[in-house]
Amino acid sequence: MMTSTSAQAVLAARMGRRPDAPARNLAHVALVYRPGDGPAAAELLGLFAFELVDMGPHRETDEHWYSVFVDAGSTFEDNLVYLIPASPAQLALESHIARTRGADPELDAAWSAFDGFSAGDPERSFHFGFTYGSFDELETAARAVLAAGAPGGSLAGRVWKRNVFRPTPGFDPAIDERLAGSPLVADDDRRCLAPNGFQLWFGTDLLASNLLAVGQVLEMDHVFPRHPAG
Ligand SMILES: [Fe+2]
Repeated sequence: MMTSTSAQAVLAARMGRRPDAPARNLAHVALVYRPGDGPAAAELLGLFAFELVDMGPHRETDEHWYSVFVDAGSTFEDNLVYLIPASPAQLALESHIARTRGADPELDAAWSAFDGFSAGDPERSFHFGFTYGSFDELETAARAVLAAGAPGGSLAGRVWKRNVFRPTPGFDPAIDERLAGSPLVADDDRRCLAPNGFQLWFGTDLLASNLLAVGQVLEMDHVFPRHPAG
């Protein structure tokens, strides 16, 4: 496991090489949704505080596709999420998997065990994360997502909190004070590897970057500033 000290050494070494390095970016993540779920899936990504553009019907279908700009610097090439309708081939595969799971208790048990593990330790499940420049911004977005997923919400039962990995208590009294007033820190929280890092995990069945049957874990991150004493 990489320790905090070695992580900083790696980062420092990389920073020294960056001026000469060719430009490469994490371009986009492509997500799919089930028939009829497009508007709800788009609403969910909008609640993450992203700018969505409805691109209209996708190719040969009536279902729409969406471009999701993660921040002000996003382009159609970089820092983007695409939301598209799942293909008939994927839906057929998903249907077969669901039938097989229903008829195979061992597969069903293994599936449930993985889901249970992911609920507690979503960091080791299929996921991707977004960083927020301020904890206030993260908290506002997170509260909107939680409200939508709660009973009576616009996305009730379709998105839910999986866990919270919070900063190390006592690392910075200012962080502790800020989190003490936040509804996002629950009794089931764990520790982020970075002592000043905050990770909030959601699960959803509205969209996925792989099989919809598995669902998708989405991560909200914020790294609090390190004070000199830290
Ligand atoms: Fe992550």
